[in-house]
Amino acid sequence: MRLAEAVVVVTGAGNGIGAAMSRRFAAEGATVVVNDLDADAARRVAADTGGLAVPGDASGEAGVRELVRTALDHHGRIDVFCANAGVASGGGPEVPDEVWDRAWELNVMGHVRAAREVLPHWLERGGGHFLATVSAAGLLTMLGAAPYSVTKHAALGFAEWLSVTYADRGVTVQALCPQGVRTDMLGNSGEAGERLLAADAVEPEQVADEVAAALGDDHFLILPHADVARMYARRAEDPDRWQAGMRKLQHHLDHG
Ligand SMILES: NC(=O)c1ccc[n+]([C@@H]2O[C@H](COP(=O)([O-])OP(=O)(O)OC[C@H]3O[C@@H](n4cnc5c(N)ncnc54)[C@H](O)[C@@H]3O)[C@@H](O)[C@H]2O)c1
Repeated sequence: MRLAEAVVVVTGAGNGIGAAMSRRFAAEGATVVVNDLDADAARRVAADTGGLAVPGDASGEAGVRELVRTALDHHGRIDVFCANAGVASGGGPEVPDEVWDRAWELNVMGHVRAAREVLPHWLERGGGHFLATVSAAGLLTMLGAAPYSVTKHAALGFAEWLSVTYADRGVTVQALCPQGVRTDMLGNSGEAGERLLAADAVEPEQVADEVAAALGDDHFLILPHADVARMYARRAEDPDRWQAGMRKLQHHLDHG
């Protein structure tokens, strides 16, 4: 995958990781299509990158269809689709259904609907590149945030399925799974986010650099935090031991 001259769509690109990726891709010579629910933020990043702003909701069928259609109308092709917009929903089963629904719609169905819209174009052209911004929470778990952990696991499951199913037809899928990244999302994640993630958090620009490099090597998992690969392996090797460690962390959070 060569970024120079690629047409790249990024959802949730008005701020944070999506904005940093858009800037990095544009610096590599890509043409970016900048989506965000926040229209002003989308326009700002589009202006900075010489890209096209397509404000709208990246979770719903209508918004995703409009985004893909507009990108194709303007540029004739989409080389990379970054399903990046996400919502960090805390709490457990007590959280109202609306919170679970919102996390499911954006963190999972946004990716499913993006694939639904862009796959026919890629199958006709003989290929394309789907980058799913998941999270380390999709490989491990995020303490205190069941809707986030569960939907990020589902997003990873979908990305894996997509990769296995369409690789032979030229579609490359990669899943970006960072831990803490210094964005508004982390800033708003409360005490658990602060205590668990802030110390090792990286800047969104670092994540964007890793992604730009990783788009060239096509490995499925993009892991800006090296520890995540080790923890994921440990969880698979000995789930009980891994959970015992996580319970200790939860205990510290609960009791200081
Ligand atoms: N920040 C972290 O620590 C971290 C860690 C791992 C994964 N992630 C993931 O990275 C992605 C980006 O998060 P971020 O930290 O950059 O967040 P952010 O809050 O800085 O930016 C998210 C952007 O998405 C936009 N957005 C929200 N809902 C939208 C929708 N329905 N349609 C279009 N745009 C929408 C927001 O307006 C905002 O501009 C998310 O999927 C998140 O789960 C973040």
